[in-house]
Amino acid sequence: MLDNAIPEHLRGDRTLPANTPSADFQPAYPSYSARFPEKATELVMALIGAQYKTKTVADALGQSKISSFLVSDEAAPSFHEWTSFIDNKGYYNLVAFAYWPSTADYETWSKESGFKKWWESLQVGDHSNGWFLEVFNPPMQRFETLFNTQTPEGSGHLREAWSGEIQKHGYWGSMRDRLPISLTDSLEGTKVSIDPSPGAQDRVRVPGKQNLAIIRSGQDWLITTPEERELYLNTMQPVLIKGMDFLRDHGEEVDCYSCRFMDVIDPATRAADKDRTFGVAYFSDLKSLESWCKKHPTHLAIFGGFFQYAKKLKYNVNLRVFHEVMVLEPDQQFFEYIGCHPGTGMLQ
Ligand code: HEM
Repeated sequence: MLDNAIPEHLRGDRTLPANTPSADFQPAYPSYSARFPEKATELVMALIGAQYKTKTVADALGQSKISSFLVSDEAAPSFHEWTSFIDNKGYYNLVAFAYWPSTADYETWSKESGFKKWWESLQVGDHSNGWFLEVFNPPMQRFETLFNTQTPEGSGHLREAWSGEIQKHGYWGSMRDRLPISLTDSLEGTKVSIDPSPGAQDRVRVPGKQNLAIIRSGQDWLITTPEERELYLNTMQPVLIKGMDFLRDHGEEVDCYSCRFMDVIDPATRAADKDRTFGVAYFSDLKSLESWCKKHPTHLAIFGGFFQYAKKLKYNVNLRVFHEVMVLEPDQQFFEYIGCHPGTGMLQ
């Protein structure tokens, strides 16, 4: 018996049609969703970043400063990890990705650890690098996860349990069907043009947008056999990078505001030797994200490539993939940039 991706306490009467091909639809392969405690009304995902002109000038100060808050005893995040990426202007960015089980916990941490005071005191020009803070508070109705194995990533570290094998995956539109709010809400966004940034010299706050769709989509090839690793690195990863480069450099063609293809790194050496990457992208709404996946040659090449890959491995795939998706109201998003170049995140 297949499980429902939406946990029982978030199910309600559907007023909008589901996309599932038929009531007895059986996906071709298993996948799971993370289950969060029933009392959890939302969670928090934050990206705290330091931006450097090049990798070689990245000093340890920014990273150790941010780390000192994250390991504080005061409501420290339930999970965090260090990541890095080279952005659209060739800058090197070090980012702590952190999760809290509630907005109240995040606020307590921010205040009690001293992070808030430090963040608010930052002045452009005090440091050679830029800083950015992006915080998202998705209510559980506006959040969904999909894992091809029961291996936690991201918000999955905050789970209480795993679902059984779910029915709602393996067809276009299943992401929408897994979001509890989509039972009754079509989640349309508003296309807002972003004002040109005042420049690199300022602290800039960017307002949230109605039904902004955010995806973190991860790949982990740590436990692949040597044969699968080679196949992944030579066939899958190049098409994935092409797709991420397209969204980063030409995102406006598909209403994607920002895309970063990030490595999970060893915080001590900053080496990207964890065999894990992920894409983080901000789309104008769920429809534009769906449309890129279903219609654009770059995701179609990733998607089609994956089935070729699985076939070559006789379906013995050890690559782990997951994603988490949230669709947010304006007051569930916070973007602030200090001394960052104008192409950063939601500034562009
Ligand atoms: C869906 C493959 C990377 C966005 C899917 C599905 C597969 C797939 C097999 C169907 C999943 C299911 O419902 O069971 C892959 C592989 C990737 C990759 C192998 C990397 C190696 C990405 C990235 C993004 C992305 C980086 C976005 C930044 C999506 C979305 C869906 C999807 C939004 C859901 C579409 C829907 O249900 O309507 N992908 N993908 N994927 N993928 Fe990818």
